[in-house]
Amino acid sequence: MAAVKHVDQVTEAEARAELARLAEAIARANRAYHTLDAPEISDADYDALKRRNAALESRFPGLKRPDSPSDQVGAAVAEGFGKVAHAVPMLSLENAFEDTDVADFEERVRNFLGHSGPLTFTAEPKIDGLSLSLRYENGVLVQAATRGDGAVGENVTDNARTIADIPHHLPDAPQLMEVRGEVYMSHADFAALNDRQIGRGEKPFANPRNAAAGSLRQLDAAITAARPLRFFAYAWGALSEPLSDTQLGAIRRLQEMGFQTNPLTVSCDTPAALLAHYRRIEAQRATLGYDIDGVVYKVNDLALQARLGFRSSTPRWAIAHKFPAELAWTRLEGIDIQVGRTGALSPVARLAPVTVGGVVVSNATLHNEDYIAGRDAKGNPIRDGKDLRPGDWVQVYRAGDVIPKINDVDLEKRPESAIPFAFPVTCPECGSEAHRAEGDAVRRCTGGLICPAQAVERLKHFVSRAAFDIEGLGAKQIEMFFKDSLLPIRSPADIFTLAARDRANLARLENRDGYGKTSAAKLFAAIEARRTIPLDRLIFALGIRHVGEAAAALLARHYGSWPQFETAITAARPGSTEWEELTAIDGVGVVLATSLTEAFQNPAERGAIDALVGHLTVLPVERPKGDSPVAGKTVVFTGTLEKMTRAEAKARAEALGAKVAGSVSARTDYVVAGPGAGSKAKDAERLGVPMLTEDEWLALTGAT
Ligand code: IVH
Repeated sequence: MAAVKHVDQVTEAEARAELARLAEAIARANRAYHTLDAPEISDADYDALKRRNAALESRFPGLKRPDSPSDQVGAAVAEGFGKVAHAVPMLSLENAFEDTDVADFEERVRNFLGHSGPLTFTAEPKIDGLSLSLRYENGVLVQAATRGDGAVGENVTDNARTIADIPHHLPDAPQLMEVRGEVYMSHADFAALNDRQIGRGEKPFANPRNAAAGSLRQLDAAITAARPLRFFAYAWGALSEPLSDTQLGAIRRLQEMGFQTNPLTVSCDTPAALLAHYRRIEAQRATLGYDIDGVVYKVNDLALQARLGFRSSTPRWAIAHKFPAELAWTRLEGIDIQVGRTGALSPVARLAPVTVGGVVVSNATLHNEDYIAGRDAKGNPIRDGKDLRPGDWVQVYRAGDVIPKINDVDLEKRPESAIPFAFPVTCPECGSEAHRAEGDAVRRCTGGLICPAQAVERLKHFVSRAAFDIEGLGAKQIEMFFKDSLLPIRSPADIFTLAARDRANLARLENRDGYGKTSAAKLFAAIEARRTIPLDRLIFALGIRHVGEAAAALLARHYGSWPQFETAITAARPGSTEWEELTAIDGVGVVLATSLTEAFQNPAERGAIDALVGHLTVLPVERPKGDSPVAGKTVVFTGTLEKMTRAEAKARAEALGAKVAGSVSARTDYVVAGPGAGSKAKDAERLGVPMLTEDEWLALTGAT
């Protein structure tokens, strides 16, 4: 090795080359140490590399690399956790609350598969903690990530390594394996931790789940190490080879590899057996020593799981049967009206704080004016027709993670002075008329974008996780910028002119309370990063009534690009071909189509949309399987299918990038007709659309 020159004697060209070598060597050492748990160089040598790097950078500041190792450690700490894109999304589970939901679940599985033979499920406790995905490569733990939004989580590898239940090395594991499960804290450990917190004058945690989450998400892994966390494995993500052909077999293999799996996991052949196990687990709930909030049922056969697949955010092959809600009585101190993104006036109960199932509750939703008055949308009595009045003694409940609700009112405790609640007929925020349309349970402010409450709620929606998800620009910052007179954000387009306006301003953001040079620059960079946005996120972000995440995804998939979407929606009026096309999309009804087209044809709304899109690069939809011969094609299924159910056919076609429509038009590429096909087959013939038998379709999609 050549002798190392003193920094003062290094030429610029030598420095450039050496900085590149150092960046690589330090990155390699970091990976060996942090990720592979197998350091390749001593700490002293590592420090020497870092020092040399810093010395060269200080002599040649202009040569500092964008990926400079000196920034990386500092940045990782300052910015919080790194992001991890999950190789397989981490989904949530559909909830069931009633016994009858369990039989319905079985029935839905059978109907989807067209399966009438024996069907086995697993049943296991639903652990109330936070989910974690552990990635093992060649049996070595290389990464741990929280769920995050399901697609992207936080890198908590160093912290996860401190959890005793998580093996660092596995014997006999597939070359690539992602193990998923729940991090939780036992009741005993939680009580001891809270004693310590109080002893040190720190705030105690509200419940074991918060304590577990707070402990795992520590920037300093030493703090996590000092907290008694545990882990149950119950699922997996990416795998280089299957673990088993059944859920139960896979769980057993995870156990053999050294993971803790829940001992109350069993298999059941009928909904009745699932319910019996649910009752057994419920009876043991108080003595298990850790929090659970229900029982999870999963289809045992993994080949059937694969056929069942996923909806947008939940698997079709599993369901969480939740325990009944927890209840508490408290005083209803007042009723506030909040104005939402679509103008809905939502009444909110202000409650005297009360603990419900370990969480302090001081607000509850009251739904709408009928609910307060004691009747449902059809005018039938609820709570035996008892209305709710400020001053009343009310029963509050929480079911799962949902917002607390009011179950009952005790009329015997009603104060004499309590008067019926008069629901406002004007918007409390902008004074516009609040109108209640025929058949709508909700009264809405008619102010549109002139209503500050609607405008600000729309902006909050715009920056929310499933929409633009701009780091450092959340609900709190939106409230602040909305009211700001020097650097206001009043519409989505304003977000993308923020940096330029800041530069032109004497009162710079970096000089404000809560901001400095770095945080202001970070915010501008986070906004910059979102100038390029996928089509589905943009459509969802517009906040148009009835256009939720799933609908936005459908629309994006159907139209493919912003220009096509925008042109079609602008032209779509009942009777036009564009309208026919829009409403023929499976999952798009007249209500959605009306709301969407009205928004695009309303001058104020349209102005805001055009101004926004002018600042963006909208990414067209990537077809999931570009090489599939049916990617991008529109197909209509009709008649009886014999090899699979209609639902399965649709799910599979969509997984191959095809669009499934409900009616035949000139834009349909194929009609797949089984026996008994009627008018749709005739339409296809009339329009000259190619017709396929089910077998021909399967051959075309490579499924036979
Ligand atoms: S299976 C595809 N099994 O519940 C979904 N989840 O509400 C695979 N959870 O995000 C999840 N105990 O954090 C599964 N035994 C269990 C569970 C469980 C707790 C959590 C998990 C998930 C959430 C969904």
